[in-house]
Amino acid sequence: MTSYVAAIDQGTTSTRAMIFDHSGRVVASDQREHEQIFPQAGWVEHNGEEIWENTRAVTAGALAKADLRASDIAAVGITNQRETALVWDRRTGKPVYNAIVWQDTRTDKIVHELGRLGTSGSTAAGGSGQERYRATTGLPLATYFSGPKIKWILDNVDGVRERAEAGDLLFGNMDTWVLWNMTGGPDGGLHVTDPTNASRTLLMDLDTLSWNADIAAEMGIPMSMLPEIRSSSEEYARVRERGVLAGVPIAGILGDQQAATFGQACLSPGEAKNTYGTGNFVLLNTGTEKVMSQNGLLTTVCYKIGSNDTVYALEGSIAVTGSLVQWLRDNLGMIATAAEIEQHAKTVEDNGGAYFVPAFSGLFAPYWRSDARGAIVGLTRYVNKGHLARAVLEATAFQSREVIEAMNADSGVPLKSLKVDGGMVVNELLMQFQADILGVPVIRPVVNETTALGAAYAAGLAVGFWASEDDIRNNWAQDKEWTPTMDEGTREAQYRNWKKAVTKTFGWVE
Ligand code: G3P
Repeated sequence: MTSYVAAIDQGTTSTRAMIFDHSGRVVASDQREHEQIFPQAGWVEHNGEEIWENTRAVTAGALAKADLRASDIAAVGITNQRETALVWDRRTGKPVYNAIVWQDTRTDKIVHELGRLGTSGSTAAGGSGQERYRATTGLPLATYFSGPKIKWILDNVDGVRERAEAGDLLFGNMDTWVLWNMTGGPDGGLHVTDPTNASRTLLMDLDTLSWNADIAAEMGIPMSMLPEIRSSSEEYARVRERGVLAGVPIAGILGDQQAATFGQACLSPGEAKNTYGTGNFVLLNTGTEKVMSQNGLLTTVCYKIGSNDTVYALEGSIAVTGSLVQWLRDNLGMIATAAEIEQHAKTVEDNGGAYFVPAFSGLFAPYWRSDARGAIVGLTRYVNKGHLARAVLEATAFQSREVIEAMNADSGVPLKSLKVDGGMVVNELLMQFQADILGVPVIRPVVNETTALGAAYAAGLAVGFWASEDDIRNNWAQDKEWTPTMDEGTREAQYRNWKKAVTKTFGWVE
């Protein structure tokens, strides 16, 4: 009797394996961090082989902790950091270059040049400048997405373009890389992805869920490199490598933010969640309707369960939130552990006038300014460590408000409450401030591991472990709710200051 479903969550800073029972509770988990490689300012890379080794290790670790075997697991789902691009040799399984991470801004010039094609009358995809591919892909042209990262590898790594054109190389986001290795790697590995991941490449047509050959041609990317796009929930293959999950069906793939949306049971139009991870990502389920943003958000695939209609989402992507706390710890040594930030912040009543805009990767939604860089403004002799700690936490809440305001404007229906999850939601001060600065309640579920849970749900639905989406709704339970206590005058004054601080980061990079 198979009583559990496993999920692999290949995230930006670590890889996790988790085992869930039928009620959606965590039975066991194991996690390993991988190296963050910063070769120069604005560049962020991961070692693909290290990530695959970690995936194997944590999968074995989680099963061992739960004292389970492959025969106890009904299915495994994969969820992943999205956009991070890896290119590897289909015969040797060796990456030709490190994975270029979603936060990396090296494709700035490529993006700019692709935008200029639009203004010079090319008709490949319509639109001009940053809007060049929006009608087809739902995305602005920005360094965030995979397509320009693939182009950079093809243009800059010796001999790689020839090998790609000869059909020897494969591209994948981390879902594809992990799945290809789990199903045999060079020995017949399956080269597939799902529409949530594909919708983050700037290469997928949002209506047909297929690769757009014109855009791929404009970026000089051979179609033979691209994985087959399947649904987010179906049995793709069984695990083939001689690892601990050998024989288990791989039956779900969801990009991590879409997985969290699914795990939060945001399954009806109008339901939204905010995940507090390395960055923050607010997703609003818009149902089978594709809503094109007029306010700097992305239109993306939320999920596609088997042959059901595609469900879309509006997304507000914020590049730097939790990673700002890590930066304070790792680069400045201002705190020893991430949890310490709350202790420092609690020593003061407010931010003392300081605002910290962490535009480390430029600014994502709703600005899409690759020319922005981070700034701390409003400093006086009065400001101390506590105020700065507060400014760091508040940056997450202010950025979240900006994307939620954009979402309210796009959808025309203001959000009445916000479901939250991710590492930072243990921070009580931040959660209260988030409710205060939004002016609506903030709600945390009992199972906060919504990303892995969402991937487990996608896999479990495909093999009948869970019967329908109603099981997911029934499993969701509230842990805690924060209600706004700040008066409106204070809230709006602080938000105005934040908006002013943001303008100080613009135009830093030529
Ligand atoms: O788009 C990037 C996102 O998928 C990364 O998520 O949780 O790994 O920071 P996370």
